[in-house]
Amino acid sequence: MKVLVVGSGGREHALTWKLLQSARVQEVFCIPGNGGTAGLERCRNLALSVSDFEGISRFALVNNIALIVVGPEAPLAAGITDYLQQQGLTVFGPTQSGAQIEASKSWAKDLMEEAKIPTAKAKVFTEPDMAITFVKAQGVPIVIKADGLASGKGVTVAMTLEEAIEAIEAALGGQFGEASKQIVIEEYLTGQEASVLAVTDGITIRPLVPAQDHKRIGEGDTGLNTGGMGAYAPAPVVTPECMERIQQEILEPTIAALRQRNIDYRGVLYAGLMITPEGDPKVIEFNCRFGDPETQVVLPLLETPLDSILMACVQQRLDQLPPIDWKPGAAAACVVVASGGYPEAYKKGLPLKGIERAETKGAVVFHAGTKLKQNHLVTDGGRVLGVTAVGESFQAAIDQAYAAVECIEFEGMYYRRDIGHRVIHGQSIIE
Ligand code: AMP
Ligand code: GLY
Repeated sequence: MKVLVVGSGGREHALTWKLLQSARVQEVFCIPGNGGTAGLERCRNLALSVSDFEGISRFALVNNIALIVVGPEAPLAAGITDYLQQQGLTVFGPTQSGAQIEASKSWAKDLMEEAKIPTAKAKVFTEPDMAITFVKAQGVPIVIKADGLASGKGVTVAMTLEEAIEAIEAALGGQFGEASKQIVIEEYLTGQEASVLAVTDGITIRPLVPAQDHKRIGEGDTGLNTGGMGAYAPAPVVTPECMERIQQEILEPTIAALRQRNIDYRGVLYAGLMITPEGDPKVIEFNCRFGDPETQVVLPLLETPLDSILMACVQQRLDQLPPIDWKPGAAAACVVVASGGYPEAYKKGLPLKGIERAETKGAVVFHAGTKLKQNHLVTDGGRVLGVTAVGESFQAAIDQAYAAVECIEFEGMYYRRDIGHRVIHGQSIIE
């Protein structure tokens, strides 16, 4: 079968790479893809935008595409699935109504409250004065969130009252446009964060192996928030017992609550969790898609053909799929190589060297922000590469990933040297 992957990041490179390993998958098309997907055999990038639903649909219909996998949240929130389904196409990724679980934090909070899903206590505000009065009464630390999609920048964990007030005034003053006309103010949770990506057909939901990512730019988990500077899986903090609770207390009630709202959700439900010091899982946020960079460490551990899982979801027969197989006794680590300056201003179009040599070290180099320019690979984003390795221990996977990173060169490249420090040193994390 032929598959179309929508998106251009490391997540989409990893999805394409994994799909191409399935015997049933003949060819994958990426819209628009990146320099990494351009180099894969049996893969072609198409110069279409992720928001060109009509162009995507036309291509898919003419080329007999059996499955469309949507990577990023923006087209899902804009209704790509609804549009393509109306044309008779098969899509992995929720409809616009389902994508609200990520696109509106207040909507997601309502759903969690209704379904009694453990999460931080929260209140919604549209007026700065009322929000500030509330924060003064609650005290700090406290968390201020833009309601809508803000490319991962809409959350402020305020440690002081001044920071909280500044965040409220900026957000309600239009910092993120429509996305911050409303804000959610919520209780500050402590513990270890983990990401559980679960696949669902709208009725049955099954978790993939849990992962953890490093969101901050600086070593020791300091500095500005980013899209993710590295990840590893399976996250030891999510014990089998904890995963069972996540399934019973979070994943299943969420799918049931979505169904109650007449939402037929077929895709990934990504639960961003806090595992409290008491070991209780609580939801920090839901996303309506695969996580990035988490996907880059989860998929290399997967043994079941990815297309069979995705097809079971879109055909609503996930209950009949045999248990998902994972590489036994293996761990995966991903080190993100970023442009100098990221997550603030950075240069693009810089030539990249050493990727082939990096892969001789046994790593897979997923491209996150690269493109081909006159057949030469150049940087094209803040996060440029996700260098991933699988080993018999976290230490082995991490060492191998770093050995590969050291082969790579481009002007100003930056990466954290402490990815996985918690699993190596057994430290607890509070990011
Ligand atoms: P989000 O964009 O919702 O994933 O939030 C970004 C980051 O802010 C999360 O990964 C957490 O580190 C932090 N965060 C969000 N909500 C809370 C909360 N209620 N308590 C503590 N930290 C939080
Ligand atoms: N790694 C965080 C995310 O995908 O949202």
